[in-house]
Amino acid sequence: MIYELSNPVTKTLVTYLRDERRDAISFRHTVAELTKQLVYEALKNFPLVEKNISLWNGSGNFKSIDEKNIIVVTVLRAGMPMLDSVMELLPGVQAGFLAMKRDETTHKSVLYYDRLPECKDKIILLVDPMLATGGSMIDALKLIKSKGVSRIITLNIIGSPEGLDLVSSTYPDVDIYITQIDERLNDDKYIVPGLGDAGDRSYNTVD
Ligand code: PRP
Ligand code: URA
Repeated sequence: MIYELSNPVTKTLVTYLRDERRDAISFRHTVAELTKQLVYEALKNFPLVEKNISLWNGSGNFKSIDEKNIIVVTVLRAGMPMLDSVMELLPGVQAGFLAMKRDETTHKSVLYYDRLPECKDKIILLVDPMLATGGSMIDALKLIKSKGVSRIITLNIIGSPEGLDLVSSTYPDVDIYITQIDERLNDDKYIVPGLGDAGDRSYNTVD
């Protein structure tokens, strides 16, 4: 299923991100803020477990998400601010890393590094701000699924209809939470209107 956030604050922040005058720090900060909104929405029906904690006057059981059961997997580079944001909200989750690069001629993604913790039976939050052709997401999902995980939720900032169709038809069991579905891809497979290259904008890369 695809869930597009509709909150007016979300839409305002997405517009803020598109503005090319945003510097890298404010761009990453806004991506992180939108990620928090995605986490709240994606996990709003998550079961709570009882957690025993030390208190000022002894100990007690209190409700909590079972963070040990969750792994957040980020796609470098542009997914890094999203990973930090998830871990600020849920400090007990584990992190996994995938490094991918789109070949700008073929527009196909190439996986060149992966470092995932033991994923068997875990819930995966896969974070990547841009879902353009969907190629990177498909490759990431294929790898993660091969590890025997119990559930995958993706958190994305902007996606194209073409890429979302491809991912959701290839992996209908994956839940996709996204802040904005844009109009289309251009001939270079960039999202229009989009926001340009999210990795470059996050880290001041000038080609
Ligand atoms: C971006 C983005 C996705 C990919 C989406 O990464 O973060 O990983 O493009 O494109 P796709 O849906 O067509 O596969 P990019 O290759 O620009 O790398 P970067 O994060 O290092 O800038
Ligand atoms: N990667 C990006 O960062 N932006 C796009 O529009 C497409 C791929």
